[in-house]
Formats: sequence, structure tokens, C-alpha cells
Amino acid sequence: MTNSLTIARPDDWHLHLRDGAMLGAVLPETARDFARAIIMPNLVPPVITGVQAAAYRDRILAALPEGADFTPLMTLYLTEDTDPADVAAAHASGLITSVKLYPAGATTNSASGVSNFDNVRGVLEKMAEIGLPLCMHGEVTDHDIDIFDREAVFIDRVLDPIRRATPGLRVVMEHITTANGVEYVKSNPTDLGATITTHHLIINRNHILVGGIKPHYYCLPVAKREEHRLALRAAATSGDARFFLGTDSAPHLDGAKEQACGCAGCFTATNTMPLLAHVFEEDGALDKLESFASLNGPAFYGLPVNDTKLTLRKSATATEFPAKIDTPDGPVTVFDPGYPIYWSVA
Ligand code: DOR
Ligand code: ZN
Repeated sequence: MTNSLTIARPDDWHLHLRDGAMLGAVLPETARDFARAIIMPNLVPPVITGVQAAAYRDRILAALPEGADFTPLMTLYLTEDTDPADVAAAHASGLITSVKLYPAGATTNSASGVSNFDNVRGVLEKMAEIGLPLCMHGEVTDHDIDIFDREAVFIDRVLDPIRRATPGLRVVMEHITTANGVEYVKSNPTDLGATITTHHLIINRNHILVGGIKPHYYCLPVAKREEHRLALRAAATSGDARFFLGTDSAPHLDGAKEQACGCAGCFTATNTMPLLAHVFEEDGALDKLESFASLNGPAFYGLPVNDTKLTLRKSATATEFPAKIDTPDGPVTVFDPGYPIYWSVA
């Protein structure tokens, strides 16, 4: 039995840090284990311009704990008014690592996202030209499309047409939740990658709905049937370089989740690496954890692998993770897999 695993320090290729008091409370949870993270721009108001991204990066760096070794990789929130020249300048200066596309209305703070994809063609063409990846929230928002089908329909109606119309555009399908997403990535060998969250490897839709509604398991895209979770597990643990970790750790105050219209998001920053060690060990793939969490993401983004290390240890007694993180505005619940975890970060 393996009781210890040392890997290159991991990165999180999809993370929500928020701002202000929440940023101060959740940033140490990620900076403890991760060297870098792609920072989502869905603040209120969103991070749309290079000037706004630079200011947000400065606020993140100012909130880092003393001595932390963490680099935020900034993104711009794509709107129908985004200026291709501003995007190109932010990329050329090294400020941004990707641009984020939210279909308008798809999720938290996505109202300024894209409704008419023709109106962002100029930006996408510029991104293809300069080699700047596009991170996509892959769900349609049509009211007549069932929420459990929105990812699969997005692939056919939006993602595939955009990729065909924009040769050379590098796309990350974010937080894929379906076998359809896995298959689409596998059948399109160039310029396409996908992130997978920790929680989608652990829960299916029963976890949200059976025996009472569990608001802390509600996120978007919503967890699907068990067969889809198994497809995600197979993709993540395969070592295939096109699949990499993006936790989508998305903190909301408990009061915002535990109510009649609760917010979407699972907060996994605190315990992601021990949870992943459990998942990969369960699937007999501990030797692939480094690929998923530390190697495949940098390879896709053309960045170096971190030269520092992270060691995970397994002990005979279950690890005690905090149930909640305190913020000045109230608690945030840490994702609970529902079973004991024996791994911890050394
Ligand atoms: O569950 C989610 N939470 N999915 C998203 O796409 C956004 C995120 C958030 O910002 O809370
Ligand atoms: Zn997200």
C-alpha cells in the first residue's frame, strides 16, 4: 500500500477567489497547496478590461499570506463590447493567461456575458492569431433545454461551430460534467482541453436530491447521472494530457446557499488534494495524479511545470478538515465528500 506520494506542486486551472473580505478568507486555502491558479473574472462588476485585471491581480497579491508562493493567472471576462486590441495588449504584457466566455445568464454573475456569438468573432479571431486560450462555460441557456442537457447541447450548437469558424483557437471546456464532454475532447485532438472539478469526480445528481435537497452540492454545471461521473473519473485518471484539474472552487456564504434560491458553487479549495488522492487511489491510478493536477495544465498553457513539490500522506485515522471557513461576513461550508478521507497534505 502506498502511504506517501510526492508530486510537482499542483495548479488550479479554474478558481473563484471573489474580492474584499471573501478574498482574504479563501485565498490562503488555495495558496497553501497550489502554486498557480486561473482566476475567474465573474466579480460584481466583472473584470472586463486589462486595467481592471491588473487592479484585481494587485488586490489578490496584497491579500496573500506572508511568505506564500502563489501566482494568480488572470483572465478577462468576455463581453460583446470587448475590444480585441485591449485583449491583445493584456496578453502581450503578460497580464492575462486566458479569456473567459460565459453565455449570458448561464451562472453566477454572468449577466454581462455573450448572447450573440457573432458579436465576439473579432476577439476570438484575434485570440487565435496570438495564441491566447479561451476558457468556456459550456452550457446553453435556452429555457426549453433541460438543465441536465445544457452541456451536451452547448457542444453541438455553440462550441463546435465556434471552433470550426475560428481555426487555431485554443479552447478549454471548463468543468465538464458529461460523457459527451469527455468524448468531444477525445475526438478533437488539437487545440482543445478540458478541466474537471474535484466535486464532479465525487458526486452525481442523487447526492444533491435524494433524502432532502443539499444546497452545498449544488453547482453549475449541475452534477449529472452516475454514468457521467464515471466517464469523468475515467478521463481524469487516464493520464490523457487533454484533461486537467480546475477545481471551480466557488465560495458563497452559507446564508446565500441555504435559502429558497441558493447560489451555485462548491467550495473545495481546502481539501481538494486529499480528496483527489482518495479518488485516484480508489481507481488504482495514484501514479496519474501528478499528470492531472500538476503536468497536463502547464503543458496545455505552454507554461513550465512547478519546480517545487507537494507531498500527500495517508494515515490510519481519518483526516479532520474544517467543516467551515470563517469570513468576516459569515461562514463558508467546505465540500464534504460524505465519506472519510485518510490522505492529507504533509
Ligand atoms: O457552481 C458554480 N459557481 N459554477 C459557476 O459556473 C460559477 C460559480 C460561481 O461563481 O459561484
Ligand atoms: Zn467557475
